[in-house]
Amino acid sequence: MPPVSVFRAALLRFAADGRALYDEDGLLAIGPDATGRQRVQAAGSWQALAAQYADQPVTHWPGRIMAPGFVDVHVHYPQTDVIGSPAASLLPWLERYVFPQESRFAEPQHSAEVAAFFLQELLRHGVTTALVFATSHPASVQALFDQAQRLQLRLITGKVLQDRHSPDGVRDHTLQSLIDTERLLQHWHGVDRLGYAITPRFAPTSTPEQLRGAGELAARYPQVWVQSHVAENRDEVAWVRALFPQARSYLSVYEQFGLLRERAVLAHGIHIDDADRALLQVSGTAVAVCPSSNWFLGSGFFDFAAAMRAGVAYALASDVGAGTSFSPFKTMLAAYGTGRECQTKPGVSLSPTHLWWLHTAGAARALGLAGVVGNLLPGCEGDFVVLNPQATALLARRTAQAASLEELLFALIVLGDDRVIERVIISQAKYQPMLD
Ligand code: GUN
Ligand code: ZN
Repeated sequence: MPPVSVFRAALLRFAADGRALYDEDGLLAIGPDATGRQRVQAAGSWQALAAQYADQPVTHWPGRIMAPGFVDVHVHYPQTDVIGSPAASLLPWLERYVFPQESRFAEPQHSAEVAAFFLQELLRHGVTTALVFATSHPASVQALFDQAQRLQLRLITGKVLQDRHSPDGVRDHTLQSLIDTERLLQHWHGVDRLGYAITPRFAPTSTPEQLRGAGELAARYPQVWVQSHVAENRDEVAWVRALFPQARSYLSVYEQFGLLRERAVLAHGIHIDDADRALLQVSGTAVAVCPSSNWFLGSGFFDFAAAMRAGVAYALASDVGAGTSFSPFKTMLAAYGTGRECQTKPGVSLSPTHLWWLHTAGAARALGLAGVVGNLLPGCEGDFVVLNPQATALLARRTAQAASLEELLFALIVLGDDRVIERVIISQAKYQPMLD
């Protein structure tokens, strides 16, 4: 029998329909498949599965919960150092803080230092996969891929495209930006667990020529991702209307240039209508919901109920640095609050298991990575976190009284932070970088 790692603790994962599956005394077995890659071999109750692994050593974590590593579907690594920078709203915040900070990523050494810190921060918070914005500098992409490869993470990133309405230091050149994108994409996409994302920043900072070029690359390379922003802020929406007067809506600008498709992920999607939602749904484009960012910049509230009705794919994201925390617990709690908001839309109460799914298996599904990451069903790659529900005195008191899985997960969402993440296991890594 090939070497298999066997773990015993409570075990959370999700059925294909999004239902949570939970064993208070669970077994997780991870070992190589026929090609030598690590995969979940078994996941279920200890009682049902232990006999199959009777001759294997077992790592036992009593009182702990094994759960899928979190998936963050929209985060900016170069904005690690701008978290908590106050501004009136999105556009002044970009001018005042983001563009000056991002201009520093022309420097490979600065990129490498921030990339290393960023990945440690993701892991410390239990995030094992992310779709990440770099900057317009190829060096920033190279640095993040280098570091992610070293850690054997499943991670997606790409060079930001922004050839207008951007200051010197971050503005790129139309033709060169597309050449750089294709070169980076050919170099990195599919290497180990890495993926490339064609990354126009947002419609106002790209010329029609750059958007057209990005759309052509998106058609030529259907397996790579596309990421951008849409309809986050009212001033931004008005600006797009002025720049693209022919377009029916902001979203339809991206449609016009061939940027809406499976594996396209657009952040925010707040100020949209039902025609936009139908367009998202038919094109297979997913929305990255960024509740702490939307709250911080006063952008508005994502309408979960309308998205659900329209069958739009959406998932949760930190959007650091407009987002205020790397912690999935903080993001899930902010998403709950966004759902409850009932002055701009009817409020909904998202269940704790649904919130958790939106940051794990549902997030993987939005990325086209269902059955790969974000879950612990047999066949998945098996990155996982070990949660300590007694990480703080208050958590210990509250979780001891949880009468159901929903109550337990809600207590973790409301009270949890990085202290709950006791270990992070990256299944493909030869050594475990964190918390072991
Ligand atoms: N829209 C265009 N660029 C950005 C960015 O960096 N952050 C956010 N939140 N929105 C954007
Ligand atoms: Zn963003």
